[in-house]
Amino acid sequence: MTTETLHPVSPEFAAKALINEQRYQQMYQASVSDPEAFWAEQAKRIDWMKPFSKVKQTSFDDHNVDIKWFLDGHLNVSANCLDRHLETRGDQTAIIWEADEPGQSKHITYRQLHEQVCRFANALKHQGVAQGDVVTIYMPMIPEAAVAMLACTRIGAIHSVVFGGFSPEALAGRILDGRSNVVITADEGVRAGRKTGLKANVDEALTHPEIKTVDKVIVVRHTGADIAWHDHRDLDYAELMAAADAECAPEPMDSEDPLFILYTSGSTGKPKGILHTTGGYLLYASLTHQYVFDYQDGDVYWCTADIGWVTGHSYLIYGPLANGATTLMFEGVPNYPDVTRMAQVIDSHKVNILYTAPTAIRSMMALGDAAMRGADGSSLRVLGSVGEPINPEAWNWYHQTVGKGNCPIVDTWWQTETGGILITPLPGATALKPGSATRPFFGVQPALVDNEGQVLEGATEGNLVLLDSWPGQSRSIFGDHDRFVETYFKTFKGTYFTGDGARRDEDGYYWITGRVDDVLNVSGHRMGTAEIESALVAHKQVAEAAVVGIAHDIKGQGIYVYVTLNSGVEPSEALRLELKNWVRREIGPIASPDCIQWAPGLPKTRSGKIMRRILRKIAASEYEGLGDISTLADPSVVEQLINEHKAMM
Ligand code: PRX
Repeated sequence: MTTETLHPVSPEFAAKALINEQRYQQMYQASVSDPEAFWAEQAKRIDWMKPFSKVKQTSFDDHNVDIKWFLDGHLNVSANCLDRHLETRGDQTAIIWEADEPGQSKHITYRQLHEQVCRFANALKHQGVAQGDVVTIYMPMIPEAAVAMLACTRIGAIHSVVFGGFSPEALAGRILDGRSNVVITADEGVRAGRKTGLKANVDEALTHPEIKTVDKVIVVRHTGADIAWHDHRDLDYAELMAAADAECAPEPMDSEDPLFILYTSGSTGKPKGILHTTGGYLLYASLTHQYVFDYQDGDVYWCTADIGWVTGHSYLIYGPLANGATTLMFEGVPNYPDVTRMAQVIDSHKVNILYTAPTAIRSMMALGDAAMRGADGSSLRVLGSVGEPINPEAWNWYHQTVGKGNCPIVDTWWQTETGGILITPLPGATALKPGSATRPFFGVQPALVDNEGQVLEGATEGNLVLLDSWPGQSRSIFGDHDRFVETYFKTFKGTYFTGDGARRDEDGYYWITGRVDDVLNVSGHRMGTAEIESALVAHKQVAEAAVVGIAHDIKGQGIYVYVTLNSGVEPSEALRLELKNWVRREIGPIASPDCIQWAPGLPKTRSGKIMRRILRKIAASEYEGLGDISTLADPSVVEQLINEHKAMM
């Protein structure tokens, strides 16, 4: 093994860990040599209402993509997350909620959560929500969001959580695509002391002329703000809860019944409604949560992700609750009121396991050791990272400053589509290399292929694919199975293509190098270039737009936009600002461009394809080595763009 950057597992940690190196090797081998036997054994961690008849029926053949796990089995997700814990840990805290304002937190026990979920499940039924209906959840990070998600699972409704930072326009698109008839929201969300009118955003979204399905909006009074009220449609959450019965039997659901839809960006077109189903997803979320974080009974576990992202689904709600964990839900941001907030939360709740994103780590690191100054932090045992590659400098800072050099870091690679973590260290087993997601989790068979789809062996670099299915895998794109097949199974036949590139080193460790398609990763948020471009061209003064990523110290990638204005429109600072605000309004603040460059024309091939490679280089001030530009329809635009870029810098 290369030793210069290697952090071996400490023998003390390994001795207490659930999985040590020997066990990892044994279990990994078993998981790939006889997947059926391995997963049948793991499936015992789920309470089945009816046993499954077959473990796995999966095919990645692009003429017949078929992914089914635990066939004919029946289970209920909320019963697995709540009911089965009541006897052993009914009075244990299930959710610690920490408010945006320091000093305000609440503990909700498993028994209390169970009761709230049952009540809300009854309330939903009472409003006519039935099995298979899509319920949109557009909420801040408050316990009622977890109640809403779990209540849907209890009655077999499919939830579609939309991140509270998305604009009314983006929310409308998702409501429309999901053909949802109920929206659950709150009056306002609060983050870093700033309020967002979520209910007002829902009202605005519902003015969309094509939305005809939504007849109920359920509103949690969170801040108590004055909000517009439509008697025919709006319902008060607290009133519904008070009127609802506290008992609700969990609906037996088939393993392959849809559990939720979650929209994510791709390289083309509108966001895709990634569909996850019930049995395989829950098992995979629970198993990975336990082993990847070495979660042990009594641990306090904190995942900082918002419920609007897949990390918030799998590792804030479903994985931890299925395991009977105490999961911390934080309404705010790590640097409010100041950079010590994260440490204060860790100390006041004695957090043992922290799972966060490189962008948060880098924003704390920018202030030296201030984030941990005066803090104790000794409760921490395991640290996790997710969402984008973590650069070694940030890794080392996280390890030394937050973890005091004692806590293994699990750099977990996965995607909305994968449902759970696929490549990751296990803290008691894997010697760490800063910046590497290391090795596959049980049952996961990664491979690197060249652009022709040839599998590459040994230490090499290529396109990251998965050769076989795992239980947490997405089954389809909601309402568009052809797009699912096209996006993931056509590029490299017989495999699932992740859209990521990776390097494998001589020790077999994987190093994710980032997306190989036109998807950006901004602060760990996935953004489709096509999505931002189509928002921009919807502006009446914009003729064309091309979006590329640029390196950004904190966000990982920033959004760089080339805009061609309609003829006769003069570029100005005011217009630049207007376009930035326009994108915020169309998609949300996370899509706000970092830089807009005016482009008299865009470098296109004669067939009209924009050469993003050239645009990426110019944005990065790399004017040399642009490659062959003679194939461009108009090679002179390149020089114009370079001159414009130089003038801006
Ligand atoms: O490019 C990879 C990056 O995030 C993408 C998935 O984004 P999303 O579906 O929004 O899910 C994010 C949370 C799971 C991947 O295709 N990514 C995620 N985790 C890592 C990562 N890149 C490098 N290292 C990671 N640990």
